Amino acid sequence: MTAVAPVARKPMNLHRLREMHAQGEKITMLTAYDATFARLVDDAGVDCILVGDSLGMIVQGHTSTVPVTLDEMVYHTRCVARGNQTAWIVSDLPFGSYQESREQALRSCVALMQAGAHMIKLEGGGWTTEVVHFLTERGIPVCGHLGLTPQSVHALGGYRIQGRDEAGATTLRKHAAELAQAGAAMTVLELMPSAVARQVQDENPGMMVIGIGAGSGTAGQVLVLHDMLSITRGKLPRFVRNFTAEGGSAEDAVRRYVAAVKDGSFPDETLHAY
Ligand code: KIV
Repeated sequence: MTAVAPVARKPMNLHRLREMHAQGEKITMLTAYDATFARLVDDAGVDCILVGDSLGMIVQGHTSTVPVTLDEMVYHTRCVARGNQTAWIVSDLPFGSYQESREQALRSCVALMQAGAHMIKLEGGGWTTEVVHFLTERGIPVCGHLGLTPQSVHALGGYRIQGRDEAGATTLRKHAAELAQAGAAMTVLELMPSAVARQVQDENPGMMVIGIGAGSGTAGQVLVLHDMLSITRGKLPRFVRNFTAEGGSAEDAVRRYVAAVKDGSFPDETLHAY
């Protein structure tokens, strides 16, 4: 193995992320589930690493995120925290680890934060408002997740675009405003028309909206690392760009992703949006 040059960046924090957002600098996020990839994406300059429960599909070979357990999320968060030096680590609360009560949610957050997470992410709107308020009051940085919420894939009837009709878009906007009021510093919006995501960001300027398949009008972008490296098998969604197409190393591909998000060339509204 070759020696890796020391990382010159300062560790990311919530204050710095908020400053970037206020100054109009786009926020970059990629998933990682292990120490090697965490080190690689951190060295390539990504602002945030998401230890996503997508690891259920990417690492464990399941067909959804539903089977992922809290112990597994704790394990992968520990692996990522060991590899990472500067990126802000967001870890997913997996299905079944926060739906029961706000106290259960708090215990699950404690486990993830003691494993190295800086922020936790939970899916859903409406009923989650009270939980988010409870957690943020107790000093836990929270990221919401609205739109296509993969833990509810069976209730949603598949991986479908959300918020396409007026009623759906209105509910999304309402849930986003409630999350912002409850103290969520960040919210992921997944798979929805660009216009809806842009409206959510505009209506909640203090909340960092991170889009995936939600167009270019958000504070930042997230992709599943294996998708943008094009090592995921099978057909990929329209919103994914293959950053390895121009050649070079995996780290070069991640650097290209960071540059493209920062300069606004990814996502391209004509290619990667709905
Ligand atoms: O689990 C995950 O990787 C996610 C992203 C798709 C946003 O939640």
